[in-house]
Amino acid sequence: MALTVLNHPVAKHLLTRLRDRTTDAATFRALCHRLTTFLVIEATRDLETCPDQVETPLESFEGSALARELVVVPILRAGLGMLHTVTDLFPKVAVGYVGLERDHQTAEARSYYCKLPPLEGRCVLVVDPMLATGGSAEQAIALLKDAGGNDVRLIAMVAAPEGVARVEASFPEVAIFTAGLDRGLDERKYIRPGLGDFGDRLYGT
Ligand code: PRP
Ligand code: URA
Repeated sequence: MALTVLNHPVAKHLLTRLRDRTTDAATFRALCHRLTTFLVIEATRDLETCPDQVETPLESFEGSALARELVVVPILRAGLGMLHTVTDLFPKVAVGYVGLERDHQTAEARSYYCKLPPLEGRCVLVVDPMLATGGSAEQAIALLKDAGGNDVRLIAMVAAPEGVARVEASFPEVAIFTAGLDRGLDERKYIRPGLGDFGDRLYGT
């Protein structure tokens, strides 16, 4: 499936401010919310709609409503920084949680929590700001597929080519949306130029 890299001047501006090491935690969270809005709009652009008839103050109008239910699954912990953007945009969205943590020595992700609503027939948005080696995304998507998710979309602020390739190889049907496709990973498996440790910057740890 396709990789979509946002191409919008405001999104580029927001991502640049997120990358800036002098951005404080409060500003970082606000920027995260604003950039996630662009990503979610892009990731839901093709959602099916059904007719929805309303009465305006002047006449009848045949509008549209979303035809399918939506689920958002943040990958803990950093994905939580993107969650409220989705619940703001889609107040009826169901929320699942997948807890994964990369080992600092090996960069292998370890699963420590999983709680999911029903996924079958729903559009599932996985939100995780960083797609580095792709190990976390791969494990999360595998859990969602096992739980019946058949329309899974991955949203990441920044992606490394290595992570994109890994997810595409394991799940070619999963669409990936990102605001920045970066140069690659360093020896510690951090994205370069990247923006550092997203969870630490988000929570000031
Ligand atoms: C970060 C990030 C992703 C993962 C990406 O989480 O939020 O989940 O790393 O790396 P990968 O593509 O190589 O798997 P981290 O494990 O640092 O945990 P945190 O969200 O609790 O900070
Ligand atoms: N996790 C992060 O927070 N940053 C990276 O660059 C890679 C993984």
